[in-house]
Amino acid sequence: MNSQPTVSQDNMNSTELSIESVKKELYKRNHPSVTPIDIEAHAETVYQILKLKKKHNVVMLGHNYMEPLVFGLSTKNEQGDSLALSMHAAKTDAPYILFNGVPFMAETAKILNPSKTVLAADKTAGCSLADNFGAEEVRKLKALYPGVPVMIYINSYADAKAESDICCTSANAAHIAREMPGDEILFVPDIFFAENLEEELRGTKTVFFPGKGNREKGAVCEVHEKFLLSDLLAIRGSFDIPKGHPTRVLYAHWECRPEVLQEADFYGSTSQIGQDIAKRVEEDRLERAFVASECELTSNLGQEFPTVQFSTACSVRCSHMAKVTLDKVLNVLQALDKGDDLSPHEVTLMPEVIERARTPIERMLELSA
Ligand code: 13P
Ligand code: SF4
Repeated sequence: MNSQPTVSQDNMNSTELSIESVKKELYKRNHPSVTPIDIEAHAETVYQILKLKKKHNVVMLGHNYMEPLVFGLSTKNEQGDSLALSMHAAKTDAPYILFNGVPFMAETAKILNPSKTVLAADKTAGCSLADNFGAEEVRKLKALYPGVPVMIYINSYADAKAESDICCTSANAAHIAREMPGDEILFVPDIFFAENLEEELRGTKTVFFPGKGNREKGAVCEVHEKFLLSDLLAIRGSFDIPKGHPTRVLYAHWECRPEVLQEADFYGSTSQIGQDIAKRVEEDRLERAFVASECELTSNLGQEFPTVQFSTACSVRCSHMAKVTLDKVLNVLQALDKGDDLSPHEVTLMPEVIERARTPIERMLELSA
């Protein structure tokens, strides 16, 4: 997301900081879901965080699903989808990376920067995909399809990645699958994603996945599975977004059910959805949109594209992403500032796991460059 410059965001990270300048900036952003009450209540915390971020030269990566005040702590370059954040993590020189997202994302940053300190605001935040499919599950499937390249979705932990040939995100899965040798691929762990990929690659590659012709258990995203085809049809009706309309668009994330993806006017990663919106706004081709994904994505898009009328589904929040709060971010930075033990916040991995998990991630980055 953010193909348009969010000048104000970057201003707050670069200008002379004070509580007053932070407040002024937050008011200027005019975020649709951040009220003056929120600004008055949280400006002091935002100020403290930005001060410590600067003092310790911390790179603060923020996933598109962060709540607006947390998302805005990251500069434009530090924000993005899983792919953009992995790419950023691969390039940074900063000694500390604080990852505002869920731990599998922070693990990717650690794998790409083993000598750096990678911190997470809440290490207990999970993900229904990563939590329900580990290294043992990959091994079992590999044994069923010997010789078939294993492509693992980035929403997985390092030990599962270590068993795989290549990693992918929702921004590059179809491209990576096409680039892999042979005409078969084993995709894990997301079942809906695998079905969507199968459809995308129909006639070119066979996609194997958990539960398809085997008795292995896969996983789904507990957030995106909430969207049913009937919900999308109801949204089309209630918000008047007819299919194929020139200026009203229904977007869906790759993790949605296949019938939801087929109904959508556009599907992609969180950033690809933002990029399509940016392009349409530039060409004056977007008046109204609904995004079938985590609801803070829509609220952040609402700030970036104020001319677009976004319909929202605010009950669809990822409880794991929601664990990353301003207070927890500040807590990590204060521990760093005081020289306290960082282990409650630090993401660590065994060197041999880092070594093995790095290959599928680096292969993905090479193919995505
Ligand atoms: P993106 O890679 O599109 O940011 O998605 C990550 C994710 O967890 C979606 O639920
Ligand atoms: Fe995992 Fe779904 Fe949350 Fe993304 S939205 S982190 S896939 S549970």
